[in-house]
Amino acid sequence: MSSVLDQIKKVTTVVADTGDFQAIKQFQPTDATTNPSLILAASKMDAYKHLVDEAVAYSKSRASDKSREEQISLATDKLFVLFGKQILEIIPGRVSTEVDARLSFDKEGSIAKALSLIELYKEEGIAKERILIKLASTWEGIQAAKELESKHDIHCNMTLLFNFEQAVACAEANVTLISPFVGRIYDWFCKNTDKKSYDRNDDPGVLSVKRIYNYYKKFGYTTQVMAASFRNTEEIKGLIGSDLLTISPALLGELAKDQETVPVVLTVDGAKASDAKKIEATESVTRFQMNEDAMATDKLSEGIRKFAADARSLEKLVAEKF
Ligand SMILES: *[C@@H]1O[C@H](CO)[C@@H](O)[C@H](O)[C@H]1NC(C)=O
Ligand SMILES: *[C@@H]1O[C@H](CO)[C@@H](O)[C@H](O)[C@H]1NC(C)=O
Repeated sequence: MSSVLDQIKKVTTVVADTGDFQAIKQFQPTDATTNPSLILAASKMDAYKHLVDEAVAYSKSRASDKSREEQISLATDKLFVLFGKQILEIIPGRVSTEVDARLSFDKEGSIAKALSLIELYKEEGIAKERILIKLASTWEGIQAAKELESKHDIHCNMTLLFNFEQAVACAEANVTLISPFVGRIYDWFCKNTDKKSYDRNDDPGVLSVKRIYNYYKKFGYTTQVMAASFRNTEEIKGLIGSDLLTISPALLGELAKDQETVPVVLTVDGAKASDAKKIEATESVTRFQMNEDAMATDKLSEGIRKFAADARSLEKLVAEKF
């Protein structure tokens, strides 16, 4: 008998979904991620306070002639990079570093921010191959990713992705990775409709990712699908075969104990035989379909608001050190 986790690992790359240093050490994932919330929490811990001081000192030395606002912004970017560097010391793969959510509707601003993050990593001796730039899947974010990938060979991880047209636009932009949020879709349907319980065959988050996977594989896109944000193991069992799955330590623990024999749900052959039809995800189509999709519109806005609030809190913490 092999556990569900072992069965999944045969067909899908499993990544521990945690930015917590202790958990990363314990689960040894290939890749890991950072975001303002995790960095904000870690920056308050005694073990990492010195990174905040280091980031501020760096900014003071490099940007002494700049405005206080620019100094704080540089120190915050540096702090992201110093945390990313710590994580890269304990994982073999890539770390995702997020572009400030307040730039979600600013293509050029997002590109400039990504280039400056990559430059800061370079100064620390870290090559861009080990970094994924994480951007919100707004139209502007997707176009920024397209340019970063094609002109600068910088790899992107598209987040806050809830909708099919968003995913198609990402594939047409030839981004490296999308990380659709299964559980947040499920949350929205539980909150806003009368149906309160779902299984692997009817969970709306699972169905959304299945449709995206089938479309990508049927039409030969290379963008990888990394389903994320799971609320229960049913959702994970519904997506076995996805390119990657990022799973919280708690659910990894449950899957390791579970002895059910589970079939592979997503396969390239299955996708090729599916009835997926080709669409053009132009700007007007993508924006209109997002607007039609109340769940995706709500969840994208909410996600950006939350990350923007975290970015402001992090800046405040950094500002206090000046
Ligand atoms: C990509 O971003 C998601 C969040 O959207 C995160 O959970 C995941 O770990 C990131 N993937 C990698 C490989 O860093
Ligand atoms: C898409 O990106 C991959 C990997 O970076 C590259 O090999 C391929 O040529 C790109 N395809 C297009 C159509 O630009």
